[in-house]
Amino acid sequence: MSNKMWGGRFATGPDAIMEEINASIGFDYRFATQDIRGSLAHVAMLAEAGIVSEDHAKAITKGLEQVRGEIEAGSFTFSRALEDIHMNIESRLADLIGPDAGRLHTARSRNDQVALDFRLWIRDTVDELDQQMLALQQALAERASDHAGSVMPGFTHLQSAQPVTFGHHMLAYVEMLSRDRGRLSDARKRMNECPLGAAALAGTSFPINREATAKALGFDRPTANSLDSVSDRDFVLEVLAAASICATHLSRLAEEIVLWCTPQFGFVQLSDKFTTGSSIMPQKRNPDAAELVRGKSGRVIGALIGLLVVMKGLPLTYSKDMQEDKEGTFDALQSLSLCLAAMTGMIRDLEPDLKRMKTAAGSGYATATDLADWLVRELKMPFRQAHHVTGSLVKLASNKKVGLEKLTLAEMQSVESQITQQVFDVLGVEKSVKSRKSYGGTAPANVRQQARRWLTKLAKETRGA
Ligand code: ARG
Repeated sequence: MSNKMWGGRFATGPDAIMEEINASIGFDYRFATQDIRGSLAHVAMLAEAGIVSEDHAKAITKGLEQVRGEIEAGSFTFSRALEDIHMNIESRLADLIGPDAGRLHTARSRNDQVALDFRLWIRDTVDELDQQMLALQQALAERASDHAGSVMPGFTHLQSAQPVTFGHHMLAYVEMLSRDRGRLSDARKRMNECPLGAAALAGTSFPINREATAKALGFDRPTANSLDSVSDRDFVLEVLAAASICATHLSRLAEEIVLWCTPQFGFVQLSDKFTTGSSIMPQKRNPDAAELVRGKSGRVIGALIGLLVVMKGLPLTYSKDMQEDKEGTFDALQSLSLCLAAMTGMIRDLEPDLKRMKTAAGSGYATATDLADWLVRELKMPFRQAHHVTGSLVKLASNKKVGLEKLTLAEMQSVESQITQQVFDVLGVEKSVKSRKSYGGTAPANVRQQARRWLTKLAKETRGA
């Protein structure tokens, strides 16, 4: 059989293994809509520039629209022998309108075509991810507003450090997601240049209008260097890097949910909607969704590293290695999307156990810093000395196996004679968080104000609002 795609020079078709390793249709079928969008803009420009006739352009446009309909209806047959989405669509177009279909590929190559399709796809995906991140921010900010004053332990080294509020903890993730969205939007701005018209690598001898196709496809401008246009994949790398950072943030929150759900912590409960049971241990309620969000971060980060490795040794311009840019990216961004949805669901679902969190906040001598601060403020002690005195008091309490607030005044005075009854005023966890009024601190009044600020801002950013 002669070769279906390259006819002329090739007498026979490829070996079965060649076809298998070479084909990308198994995954780049996802570019179908973007590919047709690009072709429609290209053919309109070709006609406008007098490179193809109006009649041919009309026939091609009509044919492309029919192909789009077939793909949307699920009646399109994708063929591996036709290698990729570009050839599949062009071949179907030829079935429909005859050899004039071949005029569509004037002044274009699959190299600029795939670069265009991938950009369009990434751009659409980034916009969807941004909306999902926003929805998660909203869920977190709502919980923050409800729990601005709910006390929980704050940790360093996973050791009780100082009391904070649950709302403050939720807002920490709102901040992270805001930077994640900023990174995506920076990447989107940088990538918004159109590679179409770079052709194979050197540009074209036809009098094309790259400004026109760039504009028609919603780009800010055409790319300025044809070699760079067909070999650049850093628009994918940037988005994968931003996605990896976001997935890492989600993974940390997921890890906290896993910890908080253990009977040992018992800070929150997830409902039946986001947990599973065990087939052997009837008492179990496992936070699988949180574990999977934590686990899937590995796939996202893996896709970034994978593509960096694919690209690092490639001379300019296009090499077939670059076909390996897609599967990992599809998987990574789809995984991130799923993780964002699952995390939003869990944040809305989880029920904090306020009593347990408050009790835990008071254990582990979490108000020791408040005691040291009191010594500095009231007794004018240098902080280092106050730290030392407090350490001795913690040791005393710990030997007696009681909290700091359970020491008697006499016991306190045996360590530091100037201590007065007033010291007991700062030893409660509520008082501790209330006093942390510095900008960005955990005081409930701060948290309430920040939650309100975020909710107003996020409502404005919601699409269509
Ligand atoms: N399927 C190819 C890819 O995904 C399209 C570009 C092919 N270009 C070429 N010169 N073989 O990268």
